[in-house]
Amino acid sequence: MTHILSAEQFSKKDLLQLFEAAKKLQKAKAITQTMKGKILATVFLEPSTRTKLSFESAMLRLGGQVISIPNAESSSLQKGESIADTARMVSTFSDIIAMRTGEKGQVAEFSKTSKVPVINAGDGTGEHPTQHLLDFYTIWKERGTLDGLTLGLMGDCKNSRVLRGMAKMAALFDMKLVFIAPEEVQVESDIQQYLLERKREFKMANSLTNVIKHLDVLEINRIRHEYFADKERAMKIGKQFILNRITVMKGKKNLIVLDPLPRVNTVQEDVDALPQAKYFQAVENGLYVRMALINQLLA
Ligand code: NCD
Repeated sequence: MTHILSAEQFSKKDLLQLFEAAKKLQKAKAITQTMKGKILATVFLEPSTRTKLSFESAMLRLGGQVISIPNAESSSLQKGESIADTARMVSTFSDIIAMRTGEKGQVAEFSKTSKVPVINAGDGTGEHPTQHLLDFYTIWKERGTLDGLTLGLMGDCKNSRVLRGMAKMAALFDMKLVFIAPEEVQVESDIQQYLLERKREFKMANSLTNVIKHLDVLEINRIRHEYFADKERAMKIGKQFILNRITVMKGKKNLIVLDPLPRVNTVQEDVDALPQAKYFQAVENGLYVRMALINQLLA
């Protein structure tokens, strides 16, 4: 039984195989019955619009069914039940679980007593592997390759599970990385170490202006204010990452702009109509990536 917990567990071959499967499903507009009789449980202890509905829609489109703990308040965790017991319960009622929590490492802990595969749908400041998969799938579909590209990661490089996990996944490929953030939320030493060990080239910048022309992909994620004690400070730093049309136009013509969304002081609406804007396309792509992943885990 395989759990999906981190970008670290994938090989280049795994990714390309998954992407081919997702592409097939996408081409066929994907009404299949491969998951008939199977149940997905979504356990979301932190807010979500896209990820939760994307997993649920993926399971329904595969012919399966869905049960859900939609928030922390409606589970017995609230009464003091342990994560280990919660996992025993949820996995008794389902065949696969997608889980989000506010605590780094908690999905991994949950998976230890789960009787069925668990997918990490975001664990605090940890990772969000299916978001990385759908972003890489989007880049692969646009460019036909993932090698030889320069990837800019802008925003809360310290707390963003999206940017942290993207950096790890990028290390599978011949990619150069640029972390664009003010010192306060710049990428931490664990990720730097991860890249150094894999001999991947990366640099850090505190503004987009000087680096945008070198980028093939720019992924931006909001300041993760939920992990800040000083919310006002978070808001102030966040305002430094606003990306508008004028700035995007300074980059390569085929630049790919990604944002996991929600956009809170990130991509401005005037970017939406540009061909560089791929974030809504990525949301749609994510459905097929999650379908392909569920198929693979329960094959
Ligand atoms: C991201 C997350 O939850 O980490 N959202 C998502 O899953 N699409 C990004 C965010 O909340 O900023």
